Amino acid sequence: MATFAAIVLLLIFPSFRELVFPSTGLGTFQDDPRYSTIRHFDLSEYGGTARGWEHGERILMCVPLRDAEAHLPMFFAHMRNFTYPHHLIDLAFLVSDSKDNTMARLKEMLEELQNDPDENMPYGDISLIEKDFGQKVKQDVENRHGFAAQAPRRKTMAQARNWLLSAALRPYHSWVYWRDADVETAPPTILEDLMRHNKDVIVPNVWRPLPDWLGGEQPYDLNSWQESETALALAETLDEDAVIVEGYAEYATWRPHLAYLRDPYGDPDVEMEIDGVGGVSILAKAKVFRAGCHFPAFSFEKHAETEGFGKMAKRMKFSVVGLPHYTIWHLYEPSADDIKYMERMEEERKNKERQEALEREKQEQLNHHWDSNSKEQWEKDRKGMAQVPEEGEEAAPAEVKKPKKLKEVR
Ligand SMILES: *[C@@H]1O[C@H](CO)[C@@H](O)[C@H](O)[C@H]1NC(C)=O
Ligand SMILES: [Mg+2]
Repeated sequence: MATFAAIVLLLIFPSFRELVFPSTGLGTFQDDPRYSTIRHFDLSEYGGTARGWEHGERILMCVPLRDAEAHLPMFFAHMRNFTYPHHLIDLAFLVSDSKDNTMARLKEMLEELQNDPDENMPYGDISLIEKDFGQKVKQDVENRHGFAAQAPRRKTMAQARNWLLSAALRPYHSWVYWRDADVETAPPTILEDLMRHNKDVIVPNVWRPLPDWLGGEQPYDLNSWQESETALALAETLDEDAVIVEGYAEYATWRPHLAYLRDPYGDPDVEMEIDGVGGVSILAKAKVFRAGCHFPAFSFEKHAETEGFGKMAKRMKFSVVGLPHYTIWHLYEPSADDIKYMERMEEERKNKERQEALEREKQEQLNHHWDSNSKEQWEKDRKGMAQVPEEGEEAAPAEVKKPKKLKEVR
């Protein structure tokens, strides 16, 4: 295996220093220049409460990115809208195994955000971490979601998450929020909405919109679920390193999925205890990670990454909860089949257009023909008709067209 370089950039903005290291409280150390490098943290003050924004609780927002350049504008539109005080949110991005311009674009957009004239816009401390994990699975939908790719892909993702978190988590963080860049629609109040439940680990429901011809919408994240007897029995039969992944026919687990329990008119505050969690949007108390709970990059109870994290948190007696009727929407990315279908529809549309064009042309030719020939003839006929015998007189036979002849007959 090649060795991968990791680059950690820490951007500390002046306004942030004062927030994190206020001169009150730590006065004795801070006032004495000899001890200015010693900081004292009472971790019991960073446990997280239901209304953290009222107590200045800091959130570390972790965002793993891979070939995500195209999603960044949408992601930053969400960032601008968050209602949780921005200065209380520190950002940590991990860019890995990317072939596009994710890092450069990210830096640009962060500069813009942090220099926004609106004083409520800039965020706290920002860490950019660049590290490749040798993720082999291609980033397109087909490859990413194929069954065989799941276990290795999830283990690599787990490593990436652990790297990101361990590099960026500070003693003063009360919460950690994991958020994917490809969320299309989510309430700007999501941080407060999740926090109000005061759980150790909490996730919303994640669906995705679909084009009308595919039915309008669909459950997306199947990694948030409750354990089932069937799955536990299945796990018994698998070898030690196996990783069960949800949503594939290969592993029929019959677990209740958070996604399928959604009622669009249901109370968004309804809670459901879950065992596996999906990674699109997780709010967790920082103490969960401080206690050693993490994203297993190996088979933990036959699960890895976020599902393994949920299981581990449960094993460590933390509360793990999902909100079946509080839904956020993942971007719709068409699969290869969808694309084929859309191409077929496009082909049909073009055929229909061609058909219509042909039809129009035929009609025009008919009109034109009528114009140049029939009309002339019609004029002639009309003139002839003017000399048709008066009422009472015997009508001329229709085929007789020459008025002169008519006269002669008379
Ligand atoms: C951000 O808020 C504005 C104004 O309410 C809204 O129009 C826009 O759609 C929001 N953007 C996102 C990504 O939610
Ligand atoms: Mg995604």
